[in-house]
Amino acid sequence: MKLKIACISGDGIGPEIIAEAKKVLQIVCEKYDHSLIFEDLLLGGASIDAYGEPLTAETIEKAKNMDCVLMGSIGGDTTTSPWYQLPAHLRPEAGLLSIRKELQLFANLRPALLYEELKDACPLRADISQQGFDMLIMRELTGGLYFGARKTYEKNGLRVATDTLTYDEEEIRRIAIKAFEIAKKRKYKVCSVDKANVLDSSRLWRQVVMEVHKDYQDVSLEHMLVDNCAMQLVKNPSQFDVVLTENMFGDILSDEASMITGSIGMLPSASLNQSKFGLYEPSHGSAPDIAGKNIANPIATILSAAMMLRLTFDLDQEANQIEQAIKDVLKEKYRTIDIMSEGCNLVSCDQMGTLIASKLK
Ligand code: IPM
Ligand code: MG
Repeated sequence: MKLKIACISGDGIGPEIIAEAKKVLQIVCEKYDHSLIFEDLLLGGASIDAYGEPLTAETIEKAKNMDCVLMGSIGGDTTTSPWYQLPAHLRPEAGLLSIRKELQLFANLRPALLYEELKDACPLRADISQQGFDMLIMRELTGGLYFGARKTYEKNGLRVATDTLTYDEEEIRRIAIKAFEIAKKRKYKVCSVDKANVLDSSRLWRQVVMEVHKDYQDVSLEHMLVDNCAMQLVKNPSQFDVVLTENMFGDILSDEASMITGSIGMLPSASLNQSKFGLYEPSHGSAPDIAGKNIANPIATILSAAMMLRLTFDLDQEANQIEQAIKDVLKEKYRTIDIMSEGCNLVSCDQMGTLIASKLK
């Protein structure tokens, strides 16, 4: 099979973690006789430095001509990087938001799974971590507060800033359908998270989710307020299967969910549109403080590459093998610094990639 992948290394630790994901993909594709075609593209800070804007029309066109996008991370240190002296629409994050919008990647899947081997790295109390958890956060990615009109202005001599949170029913319906469909491949449980006690957008969200649920009576549906969900994630994470939520709540809850897996360096993500096209990236950021030091954890990116094989190319066996290779390496007690615990062997970013790749030969 021919795999045409647009590859965005990005900023900070992006190039280091992408190099390891490519290393792993090369080995798997050699083994199964797939041909890999990478088209390297710029996004975020790297694109600002090259073209003066975080995402160019040419990059979007090139990405659309490939089967999917594999991405590292974008952005820099918001207090020191010159990128953050630019107007908001020219900063690195604006590029990421607009590539998601341009490619209509409305469904963001962020699986948070506590590996048996990493239970010691989980910051929760042992009686909670012993229960384990395996949830999938389904975050709406192209609507809500991050895409609504915003402005900063002056009124009566005071500086004022406004952001708007809007959803139409179709935006809610399509992500709800994805959530119920995915739940049928998991534990048949959806928890829809909103703030329906305060927000109109959440009240509509809840109504539409209930309407969609009528077609999925075999899946159980629960509604939870977002503040309660933040609490439940640390109190009893094993209760969750699919967590369906809007853009900003999903942004925040997915960071929380990743942390209880032991490290944000473990969490992959897939952003999908209505077709097989997807953008695959770790859920974590560009970690400028550790960039260039070869100490980042490449596992979230390698797991994102596995999601890509499964969801865009239907290569389940290849994806399973990558996931198993990661488990094997963890079982052998190799750890990057973020998941290090006593009695384990500390390895660098590229050593971790090489170890995972070597399990696949
Ligand atoms: C994420 C990131 C992005 C987001 C930022 C960098 C715009 O935090 O993917 O979760 O908020 O979506
Ligand atoms: Mg985030």
